[in-house]
Amino acid sequence: MYLSISKKILAWYKKYQRDLPWRKFKSQKDRHYKVLLSEYMLQQTQVKTAIPYFNNFYKNINTIQKLSKTHQSKVNKLWEGLGYYRRAKFLLETSRIISKKYNSKLPMNYDDLIKLPGIGDYTAKALLSIGHDKSEIGIDGNVSRVVSRLFLVKDKKKIQYYVNKLKVKKNPSSLMQGIMELGALICKPKNPLCIDCYLKDDCKFKYNTFKNFKSSKNTSQKIRKLIACIYIKNTKILLTRKNDFGPLNGFLNVPIIEKDHDNTQTKLKNFFGKDVKYSFFCKINTSISNFKAEISCIKIKNCKKIHNHLNFYTFKQLQNNFKSSFLIKILKKTKFII
Ligand code: ADE
Repeated sequence: MYLSISKKILAWYKKYQRDLPWRKFKSQKDRHYKVLLSEYMLQQTQVKTAIPYFNNFYKNINTIQKLSKTHQSKVNKLWEGLGYYRRAKFLLETSRIISKKYNSKLPMNYDDLIKLPGIGDYTAKALLSIGHDKSEIGIDGNVSRVVSRLFLVKDKKKIQYYVNKLKVKKNPSSLMQGIMELGALICKPKNPLCIDCYLKDDCKFKYNTFKNFKSSKNTSQKIRKLIACIYIKNTKILLTRKNDFGPLNGFLNVPIIEKDHDNTQTKLKNFFGKDVKYSFFCKINTSISNFKAEISCIKIKNCKKIHNHLNFYTFKQLQNNFKSSFLIKILKKTKFII
């Protein structure tokens, strides 16, 4: 029974798979690099968003070896706009380890892959399956939803059990990609296209009679309240690479502090001196990595002291620097860049 389901997935994938740039390769070496790059990009990004970034990245850097010799600032620049910038750092570190320790070849076993920066259980298995055609299946959101509906199970252990049952010896790379593709195109989170599904006779999920079968993902995400401090003086803007909160630390940005009713004033005085004066500029609602943020932007007016990790940048200096999507938003709103 399981083999017949897997065969149906393979047949469907062969016919309906999307034409994605990492699915075409010139050699095994090229395949490994494309799979590595795409898996890092796709960790937090949707396929259609990742495609132009993937193509541009590959146009600039087309082997693991070349990547390993690239400066972090160039990799960041190529990643600009994709978000979750730690991935760019991890990808570069991984390419350097692969070049040095594995002679530029993508490791072929789980234990070596899982030790690489930015690679967890899912990515290690995806690299084995999609890159090396090994009989593995990484469980991402799509795989989990397809298997969970197909066998009507919710529990992680049960999903893993059925995923193992579906594994095949022949063409495992297409099988894993086929399950993901089925999740993306047919077995969609909302309004699945059950009528068109090759697995409809096998599937226990009856869409109309089972509407309450929801994913257990917690959707009540807390919104973080932040204050972004904009200080522009003589056509220069004040920026820092040292922001307290995680995802943007290390990247150039305006100083950002956590809104804290008791301490906001103290924090601002700490940054800009005790006579600091400011006015409210605008509010931005955005997502930074995996949290939602409500950011009050203030314009600093009177500033006597400047913390030593803050520096002024001209428009020109910023042009060649990596800028996060959030910084670009601020620069546009202040008309610092157009
Ligand atoms: N999501 C993660 N990896 C993917 C891949 N190789 N193809 C499509 N979607 C994906």
